[in-house]
Amino acid sequence: SAERKVTGLWKNQLGSNMTLSALDAEGTFTGSYHTAVADTNKRILVSPLRGAQQPGTKGQATFGFTVQWQFTDSVTAFVGQCFVDHRGKETLETTWLLREEVPTRRDSWKATRIGTNTFTRVKG
Ligand code: BTN
Repeated sequence: SAERKVTGLWKNQLGSNMTLSALDAEGTFTGSYHTAVADTNKRILVSPLRGAQQPGTKGQATFGFTVQWQFTDSVTAFVGQCFVDHRGKETLETTWLLREEVPTRRDSWKATRIGTNTFTRVKG
């Protein structure tokens, strides 16, 4: 099968690492995220993630997951797709939204950031 799984250890261009567990029967997975950067002076803690992957009939599966940060009140949602080049090298191309907690509704306009992350597999 050309189907690709996102299971395993991945690193992005910021130096962040994440481990994604095996998919269950519904295509959902859990994992842990160790961010290399943070918008806080608090000590970074490895944080849990939960996500879902589509079956990927064309071999380049789409997925999404959320990270519930353990050291601050923010949450990040990632969506992405797994691409495989002609050498078999896998890349996760993702877009993320980071929501921070703001004290009032008036501050909501500035509470969400967006970015992209590219992940490569650390070890087969
Ligand atoms: C925070 O600072 O509020 C918590 C940590 C957020 C880390 C972000 S999530 C998107 C981006 N990709 C990473 O690997 N780290 C940053």
